[in-house]
Amino acid sequence: MSFTLLASPLQGFTDFTFRNAVEEYFGGINAWFAPYIRLTKHLEIKNSYQRDLLPENNRVSNLIPQVMTNSADEFLFVAVYVQNLGYSELNWNLGCPYPMVTKRGLGSGMLKHKKQIDELLTRVANESDVTISLKMRLGYDNSREILDLLPMLEKHNIKNIVIHPRLGRQLYKGEADLDLFQQCLENTGHQICYNGDITSVAKFRELKQRFPSINSWAIGRGVIANPFLPAMIQADTDQLPEAWTVQFSRFHDALFQSYDESLSGPGHLLIKMQSFWEYFAQLFSNPHKAHKIIKKARSIPAYHEAVSANLFGERI
Ligand SMILES: Cc1cc2nc3c(=O)[nH]c(=O)nc-3n(C[C@H](O)[C@H](O)[C@H](O)COP(=O)(O)O)c2cc1C
Repeated sequence: MSFTLLASPLQGFTDFTFRNAVEEYFGGINAWFAPYIRLTKHLEIKNSYQRDLLPENNRVSNLIPQVMTNSADEFLFVAVYVQNLGYSELNWNLGCPYPMVTKRGLGSGMLKHKKQIDELLTRVANESDVTISLKMRLGYDNSREILDLLPMLEKHNIKNIVIHPRLGRQLYKGEADLDLFQQCLENTGHQICYNGDITSVAKFRELKQRFPSINSWAIGRGVIANPFLPAMIQADTDQLPEAWTVQFSRFHDALFQSYDESLSGPGHLLIKMQSFWEYFAQLFSNPHKAHKIIKKARSIPAYHEAVSANLFGERI
């Protein structure tokens, strides 16, 4: 059975620079969700979000903008904005677990507000022709939240729902709850996309076997930890390419160069690249050591030496 691989968004990581580089050096992703847009108090979209969505900055074939809001006015404002850029779909973030967000009734903090969700979807459908998709967790406090929402969602025109089967209050701890994911499938007529902990081809196969009706899968952290993973999944192979370090090095250098051009100064560049290594390190046989070597770098030359040491085993 054919399937669609979606890249789940990671604010601070999967911006257009990263997306373009993954597309160019690895491929394998059929569609990318952009990290969420949040409006400022004055109903403005920050420049960085604007840059991230500009068609001229994006070379991936399919990009889906996302918004995090609990207001229909904001949703409609962003819908017009993205439609003017040529996008037809807007994904609604109902999954973000961070307390700063959830305490304001946003992200997964919105999941217990069924009436508000219903009202927002109704108004958006009445006042806009944007295609709506949702991305959600099982709930903030407990999974009754999603089980209570799904019947209400039946009447709405929603392209698909990406479900990451954890609770907001869990953050990223514990296991994704596959039994509850199954229960969600049994309680909805909407297209469901699975998201959560797809970190290897073996894990993907396992999930695909368990949920044969699912044909779209979203991978977040796994794409950063192993940018080869989407293409490996598409090719159904467990093996990294033989010369993976060379390929990875080209990708890394392209990423580095783009950030060097767009970020202001070596300090920011170093922090940005080091943050990626929290994930990249997992490609190596000793992730802890690979990350430590990178974290120790205090200058750009030292950083380059650390990258070479990881990739090609040179001494520093
Ligand atoms: C640092 C970070 C930033 C994230 N930013 C977003 C975001 O902007 N929008 C969103 O829907 N999910 C966001 N997520 C959640 C991921 O897209 C994904 O749903 C989650 O990590 C589970 O999938 P995974 O195990 O494949 O990573 C973020 C996750 C992390 C760790």
